Amino acid sequence: MQFQNNKERILIIDFGSQVTKLIARRIRDLGVYSEIVPPQELKKKLKNLSLIKGIILSGGPSTVTKDKHQTISKDLFEKKIPILGICYGLQLISKLYGGSIKSSKKRREFGRAFLYKKKNSELIKNFLISRKVVWMSHEDAVFKLPKNFNCIAFTKDSKYTIIENAQKKIYGVQFHPEVTHTEKGEQIFKNFLFSICKVKKKWNIVSQKKKLIGEIKKVVKKDKVICALSGGVDSSVVALLVNKAIKKNLICIMVDTGLMRKDEFKYTYKIFKDRYKLNVKLINASKIFIEKLKNTSNPEKKRKIIGGLFIKIFEKEAKKIKNVKYLAQGTLYPDIIESRSSSGSKSSKIKSHHNVGGLPKKMNLKLLEPLKEFFKDEVRVLGKSLGLSKDISLRHPFPGPGLGIRIIGNINAEKIKILQEADHIYINELKKNNLYDKIWQAYVALLPVKSVGVMGDSRTYEYICLLRAVTSEDGMTADYFKFPKEFLDKISNKIVNNVKGINRVVYDITSKPPSTIELE
Ligand code: XMP
Repeated sequence: MQFQNNKERILIIDFGSQVTKLIARRIRDLGVYSEIVPPQELKKKLKNLSLIKGIILSGGPSTVTKDKHQTISKDLFEKKIPILGICYGLQLISKLYGGSIKSSKKRREFGRAFLYKKKNSELIKNFLISRKVVWMSHEDAVFKLPKNFNCIAFTKDSKYTIIENAQKKIYGVQFHPEVTHTEKGEQIFKNFLFSICKVKKKWNIVSQKKKLIGEIKKVVKKDKVICALSGGVDSSVVALLVNKAIKKNLICIMVDTGLMRKDEFKYTYKIFKDRYKLNVKLINASKIFIEKLKNTSNPEKKRKIIGGLFIKIFEKEAKKIKNVKYLAQGTLYPDIIESRSSSGSKSSKIKSHHNVGGLPKKMNLKLLEPLKEFFKDEVRVLGKSLGLSKDISLRHPFPGPGLGIRIIGNINAEKIKILQEADHIYINELKKNNLYDKIWQAYVALLPVKSVGVMGDSRTYEYICLLRAVTSEDGMTADYFKFPKEFLDKISNKIVNNVKGINRVVYDITSKPPSTIELE
């Protein structure tokens, strides 16, 4: 199901950079639809040439100094579409136009660099007046300008940091304007989109709502759709959207694993049933989850048990409903981008993510993924326009295996209760102190060790809990949140005073990488 076939767009050719997604987000944030395409799929995309208002060549791990490198046909430059190359993109443009690129271990730039202006250009209007901090990540650099190109700006270590062929509307920047470390990097995109490509601001997710609902109606017709509803943003928005299209023919199943936050599942079930009038069924499976997890402490084993059991229970429930043809899922655009490896490199598996991916094949269902072209922020906005309450649409991400991977080591009912109470206090305090919305994700984890404490005049020997709070753009990288000391004091006191079973609180100050957001 393809929703955006007739939209004006900016194509981003993905050469495998870790931050290509951010380019697409920046552009959409500016009100223009953008789409990421691996170079090998470019030909197909160029069929709708009149809709392509600009092309961006992303960064990537390849090097044009080797014979075998990722490339595109030079014909692309003859289509009279403005082109902007970023990092590897700039090097590729230079190579294709006869410039010379060298790899230099001595002059490589990683991180902050100062950019200086050499010449005026549409691309740097309101961006580069004299000096600017930009973010670099390269070893290769252009040493000889390609034919008919001018140098616009430079840094101490790279002579040609911004280049242009204004007549052909081809531009290249060695730094990454898409990352927040580049000061006012957004202005580069504004200039490219509105002054160079002359594209109009027409894109916003809410204007897509009607179209999405119409498409779902058209595809599903009178058939039945099931959906595993977790109460997280993605599955909630999918459920509301599909419900708007096909009403009671959408059947939502909520499997309570017992590994959810305190009272959260009961609360969301009630909202979906009473306020949004969804056709929703709640399955309480907590006992069986706890039973099956008994004596398992290995994180991957826990993940497999929880994921497998979830699928089994969901499947059993779904089979009770006759004539189901579709499974609706909250797959997002980043999931799609990540699942097709454009650079050809296989990334190593860090964690087995819990999802219901095995279901469609097993149950002979077709997938309905109406959010697969959108980013999380867009989905939140869409949720709001569908009437989804703020406490669900702005909810922090929550992993499928839930508290199962936040109780380190063995799991039992007592530990779940202890963790739920501590987490409840933490999250409530974040909300009360207006910190919740400033944080990407926060939670409490229970460590598998006990330590000695003193309360009143007595010795205690209880669990240690760990507070985690991170800022992030997409969960791929993260930094720990810098709380005021007073807040940490308050939380520590409140948890230890109110949660029987915890006598020590620690705060996790590692970023991702090298850590991950979840502990298991
Ligand atoms: P990590 O721990 O890998 O987490 O840094 C990155 C983001 O993914 C979430 N996460 C999951 N989400 N199923 C999910 O739907 C999972 O199995 C899962 N494991 C981790 C995590 O909470 C963070 O937002």
